[in-house]
Amino acid sequence: MSKQKESWGSRMGLILAMAGNAVGLGNFLRFPVQAVQNGGGAFILPYLICFLLMGIPLLFVEWSLGRYGGKLGNHSTPYILDSITKKAVWKYVGVFGIFTNIAVVAYYTYIESWTFVYVFHTLFGTFTEMNQAEISTYFNDYVGLKGTLFGMNFLPILAYVAILGLNVYILSTGLGGIEKVAKIGMPLLILFGIILAYRGWTMGDDFASEAFPDANAWDGINFLWTPQYSSLADPKVWLAAAGQIFFTLSVGMGSIQCYASYMRENEDIALNSITAGFTNEFVEVILGSAIVIPIAAGFLGLDWVMENAGFGMAFQTMPYLFQQWGAVFGVIAGVCWFGLLFFAGITSSLAMGTPWMGFMHDEFGWGKIKGALSFGALALVMGLPTVLFYQYGYFDEYDYWAGTVSLVVFALLEIILFAWVFGMEKGWEEITRGADIRIPLIYKFIIKYITPVLLLMVFIGALFTPQGNDWAGALSGLFEGNGWTLDNSSLIAKITLGDLKAQLALNPDDSVFIEDKMFYTQMARSQMIILFVFISIIVWFSTKKRKLEGRL
Ligand code: ALA
Repeated sequence: MSKQKESWGSRMGLILAMAGNAVGLGNFLRFPVQAVQNGGGAFILPYLICFLLMGIPLLFVEWSLGRYGGKLGNHSTPYILDSITKKAVWKYVGVFGIFTNIAVVAYYTYIESWTFVYVFHTLFGTFTEMNQAEISTYFNDYVGLKGTLFGMNFLPILAYVAILGLNVYILSTGLGGIEKVAKIGMPLLILFGIILAYRGWTMGDDFASEAFPDANAWDGINFLWTPQYSSLADPKVWLAAAGQIFFTLSVGMGSIQCYASYMRENEDIALNSITAGFTNEFVEVILGSAIVIPIAAGFLGLDWVMENAGFGMAFQTMPYLFQQWGAVFGVIAGVCWFGLLFFAGITSSLAMGTPWMGFMHDEFGWGKIKGALSFGALALVMGLPTVLFYQYGYFDEYDYWAGTVSLVVFALLEIILFAWVFGMEKGWEEITRGADIRIPLIYKFIIKYITPVLLLMVFIGALFTPQGNDWAGALSGLFEGNGWTLDNSSLIAKITLGDLKAQLALNPDDSVFIEDKMFYTQMARSQMIILFVFISIIVWFSTKKRKLEGRL
C-alpha cells in the first residue's frame, strides 16, 4: 500500500485552504437570509455567542482531532475517531464525516454551477433587456429545466456535470491543487466582496424610485446591526444562529479534520484555526451583510426585502439591480457577484472531496485519480436527482438532513469523545501543543461543559420544536398538563412528513404536486440512507482488512 506522506506546502497554504473551506455559499447566500428571517439585529447576538461558545471550541477540537489522527496515518473521521478510542462504534460515528461531505457536495456543486453560468450570462448580456419579473422567471425556468429541446433545458445538467468534473480534476492534483485554487480564489473573492460591499455601504438612498420612494441601503444595514436583546430568550433564533455557525464554519462535517490531518506533527493549531475562523467571520459578517440586503434595500426598500428574503434573491433579483448601475459597472458588479460566489463555492466543495479520498487512500491504497473519480461518481449519483427534481424539494431534503441535522449530531458526538473519552487534560495538551498564541484557559471549561450542553440543547430544541415555535407557551402548557404539540418544522414532525401532510390538508387543489413532493422526499431520504450504509460497509471491510494486516 502506498504510504507516501502528503502534507500542506506552507502555513499560508493551509490557512487559506481552511479559510476557503469555511468561506462558502453559506456566507453570502445563507447568512443574509437567515439574518433577515430571524429579525436582523435580533439574530446577530445569538449568532456571535454561538460563534464563541460553539464555533471556536469545535474548531479547536476538530483541528486537534485531525492533527492527532494524521500523525497515525489516518485522514478521515472513521479512523481519526478510532485513534482516540478503540471502541468499534466510534468508527461508525466517523462515517458521518464522509457521508455529510458527499451528500452536501451533491447539491452544493449544483449551486456552484449556477454561479458559473451566471458569470457568462452577465458577460454576454443575457439579462440586459429583461425586467425583474423576466429575470426571475428565467431562473425558475432554469432550475425547472424548462426548455425547447425535447421540452427540456439540458444546460443546467451539463453545467452541473462540468463543474463536478472541474472539482474532480482539481482534487486529482492533490493538496497542491487545492492550495493553488485557495491562493487564487480567496484574495479574488475578498476583492470582489469589497467592491460590492463598498457599493452597498455608499449607495444610501441614491436609487430610491417612484415605485420605492423610501428605498435606502442604510435601512438594510441598520436592520442587521441594531441589536435586539429580546431575541436572547427565543430558542428559534438560537437554533437558526447555531445552524448558521455550523454550516458557515464547516464544523461537524469532517472536512476540517481531514485538512488538519495533513498538518505537521507540532504545527500550531491555536493561531491557525483562529485565523481561518476569523477570516470566515470577517467575510460573512462584514462582507456578507453588506451586499445582498443593503443593495436590495437601496433599490426596493427594507419592507420588500423582509417580505422576499430568500435564497433565490441572489439569482432572481441581483442581476436586475446591477443593471441599474449602468452598462459598464452593471457588468462589473455582476461578474464580481457571481465570481465571488463561484470561488466561495469551489474552495468549499474541494474540501468536501478530501475525506472520501483520504479514506480510500489510507485503507485501500487508492491514488489521487482513482480517489477523485470515485468521489465524483458518488457525488453524481447523489446529485443528479437534486438537479432533475429540484422543484420537488430533493435539494432541500439533502440540505436539511445532511447540511444541518448531521452537523449537529456529529459535532455533539465528537466533542463528547474528545472532552470525555479522550479526556480534557489530554485534549487540552493536544490543542495547545506547538501553539503560537495562548488560548484563554476558560476554553478548557467551555469545551468540556458549555459546548456539549449547548449542542444538546440545540439538538433537543430541534427535535421537539413546539407549535408556532412558542416555547414559553408550550412549557407553561406542559406544566398545566396540556401536553406538547409539535411544530411542523420540528425534527420529529419532519420525519413523519408532518410538514407536507399539513400542506396537503391546507391545499387540496395542489394535492398532485404535494403527493409527488412526498414521494421525492422519501426517495431523497432513501438515497441518503443508502449512502450512509454503503460507507459503513466499506468501513467494516476496512476493519477486516486492517485486522488481517495486523494494523488494528
Ligand atoms: N462552510 C461552507 C459554506 O459556508 C460549507 O458554504
